[in-house]
Amino acid sequence: MSTIAAFYGGKSILITGATGFLGKVLMEKLFRTSPDLKVIYILVRPKAGQTLQQRVFQILDSKLFEKVKEVCPNVHEKIRAIYADLNQNDFAISKEDMQELLSCTNIIFHCAATVRFDDTLRWLDDAIIDEITPKLIRDWPNIYTYTKALGEMVVQQESRNLSIAIIRPSIVGATWQEPFPVSPLTWIQTKGWVDNINGPNGIIIATGKGFLRAIKATPMAVADVIPVDTVVNLMLAVGWYTAVHRPKSTLVYHITSGNMNPCNWHKMGVQVLATFEKIPFERPFRRPNANFTSNSFTSQYWNAVSHRAPAIIYDCYLRLTGRKPRMTKLMNRLLRTVSMLEYFINRSWEWSTYNTEMLMSELSPEDQRVFNFDVRQLNWLEYIENYVLGVKKYLLKEDMAGIPEAKQRLKRLRNIHYLFNTALFLIAWRLLIARSQMARNVWFFIVSFCYKFLSYFRASSTLKV
Ligand SMILES: NC(=O)c1ccc[n+]([C@@H]2O[C@H](COP(=O)([O-])OP(=O)(O)OC[C@H]3O[C@@H](n4cnc5c(N)ncnc54)[C@H](OP(=O)(O)O)[C@@H]3O)[C@@H](O)[C@H]2O)c1
Repeated sequence: MSTIAAFYGGKSILITGATGFLGKVLMEKLFRTSPDLKVIYILVRPKAGQTLQQRVFQILDSKLFEKVKEVCPNVHEKIRAIYADLNQNDFAISKEDMQELLSCTNIIFHCAATVRFDDTLRWLDDAIIDEITPKLIRDWPNIYTYTKALGEMVVQQESRNLSIAIIRPSIVGATWQEPFPVSPLTWIQTKGWVDNINGPNGIIIATGKGFLRAIKATPMAVADVIPVDTVVNLMLAVGWYTAVHRPKSTLVYHITSGNMNPCNWHKMGVQVLATFEKIPFERPFRRPNANFTSNSFTSQYWNAVSHRAPAIIYDCYLRLTGRKPRMTKLMNRLLRTVSMLEYFINRSWEWSTYNTEMLMSELSPEDQRVFNFDVRQLNWLEYIENYVLGVKKYLLKEDMAGIPEAKQRLKRLRNIHYLFNTALFLIAWRLLIARSQMARNVWFFIVSFCYKFLSYFRASSTLKV
């Protein structure tokens, strides 16, 4: 029996950000491994016209929760959604709900955050914020990292006699091993689960659809992606360890892949492209490509030639056919989003995993198996393939039956690409010949060389006959 799973049995757990990527996977794992837990309180706000209950039903209806419904059939009775908005005073939680939370909660997992890198501070009025933001964030690359650091500071200062721990994941990616397969037949399909277009997911979509073909990133820098189930397993192990062993100081756990099992951007790009050959996305704009460069000039050249120019040409085509142009706007937004990642993907980061490894050694063999966060066991090639498959299935909702047609389209796009490049070369060459004596001489030299070669070849084959 897993000690960690038993620890969560009978407990009342509060999760913030349960409607987010990490929060959902955390909730799923808790219900699957500790179905006898008492209740999970989740702080939720209404969104996109959906009530709290509708949001909960949507989560439970997703593919991710299929196994949970087998193991814990009354799962819907064990989730208590509480109205809250973390931007408001006291989180806008009603007095009654607050009372219940304060008297019943045993463990809190705080996952809620705005993960947009370009968000603004929201304390004062806009003009003041614009003026003081650069002075406040100083060397921090953006508001996201700055407010994360503030949050950690506040938690440590205000924790008083609460036992707390901080978990810092790197770039969180699709699931690696979980949820465990319902049957061996669905094994492949349940891996690679993702549910939003943030971070690497959006980049995989933009690359697979042929919008994004080059990125300013150091090719040999570590691509520190960490599977979401690995992060969640560590969170649950940390929850148990912190409550049971009560470390004297607040421990910080880094859950990263870089120093234990590194993969660089180049290798990741190659594998992503290889996967697109096997399982392409439907209706790509151009053939997928994944170039990485740290050189600003090359990057600007690629942006102009590979991104902006095709977008402008496509918009002209839309205009000529009486439709509204949209590609340039979309491309600008995409390039702006990618540029926000530059600070992080142009460097290799080193994180100490001392506490994470210490915790691993504290777990029983059974807990190491059920709550596995040993990223050394991860096979990148297999993981990336499942990741791309997951993006195709769960985010783009594309049918596998469409793969042969998608492959045909890729072939057509390749032929168009070759044709276009050849035409471009011939036009450029023709213009050069018209203007330069030197180019003319080179051209006549090549033509006469080819002619002589062909004559020699023909003569020698006639002799043999
Ligand atoms: N994803 C990563 O690569 C990554 C990497 C390192 C650290 N992290 C950290 O991991 C945590 C979870 O990230 P994630 O990827 O799961 O993010 P996510 O998918 O964007 O989820 C964010 C969650 O926070 C909730 N939330 C945001 N503002 C709120 C508010 N004012 N009131 C109530 N709820 C609010 C969201 O609720 P709604 O559904 O209502 O919007 C959502 O449930 C965050 O703390 C993030 O900083 C993530």
